[in-house]
Amino acid sequence: MLLYLARTTYHCWAHLAEAVREGRSQYLKAFGVPSEELFTAIYRSEDERLQFMRGLQDVWGVDGRSVLSAFDLSSFPVICDLGGCSGALAKECVSLYPGCRVTVFDIPEVVQTAKMHFPLPEGARIRFCEGDFFKDPLPEADLYILARILHDWRDEKCAHLLERVYRACKPGGGVLVVEGLLDADGRGPLTAQLWSLNMLVQTEGRERTPAQYCELLGAAGFGTVCCRRTRGLYHAVLATRGPPAPCSPRSLVPFN
Ligand SMILES: C[S@@+](CC[C@H](N)C(=O)[O-])C[C@H]1O[C@@H](n2cnc3c(N)ncnc32)[C@H](O)[C@@H]1O
Repeated sequence: MLLYLARTTYHCWAHLAEAVREGRSQYLKAFGVPSEELFTAIYRSEDERLQFMRGLQDVWGVDGRSVLSAFDLSSFPVICDLGGCSGALAKECVSLYPGCRVTVFDIPEVVQTAKMHFPLPEGARIRFCEGDFFKDPLPEADLYILARILHDWRDEKCAHLLERVYRACKPGGGVLVVEGLLDADGRGPLTAQLWSLNMLVQTEGRERTPAQYCELLGAAGFGTVCCRRTRGLYHAVLATRGPPAPCSPRSLVPFN
């Protein structure tokens, strides 16, 4: 991740002032690549894609268990990790929940790179599936995971994606959103604020507060939304498709 930050993100930060004024990614100035198609810019070469995937996977060996155990997910035997990249979080998931199997869904180039460079152990109960989560049918699952996905996109795209996930969910099914959370007033923690600036210079997204995730998930139709902070860098928001509880349509639990 440090290599990726040094070779890519840092060059975008050189244009921080313009990023703040324009409110947009600085790929064009930093690398001469237009960023209307976000991941076409991020994956502008095979080397860059591999570097990105290597950088991203490492954190789940450290923080994967804490986000996956923030809630007991054992009642969801079929899981789909949308934008699951190299399958690093999926590996933690099958090791923590021996009864589950996981489909890692990502764009075709990423799936092909994953199969070539990040082989799965024999009998891993993980399979890859190629597709575009904004357009293609989503694989059937009891639980969808969106780890570090929503922070890439502006609110309207998140709303569109969450509506698709909601429609794919069975009653009682749900979505686990894994992100670095801002404090309720947006004034900390410093790591999440810095990530939010990374998102500004590199993507069209931002980090959000628990209430902002609850709002997005509620608007997509999820009846119950529960947010738990872990002791690690990333936190978990579980939303389920089902009737809202009579008195508290959306419960917000700020700390474990
Ligand atoms: C910031 S990365 C997060 C990866 C992984 N979930 C993690 O936390 O390590 C975003 C992922 O979303 C994938 N992605 C972006 N646009 C997508 C789309 N339209 N359909 C499917 N996957 C997409 C990217 O290829 C990438 O793997």
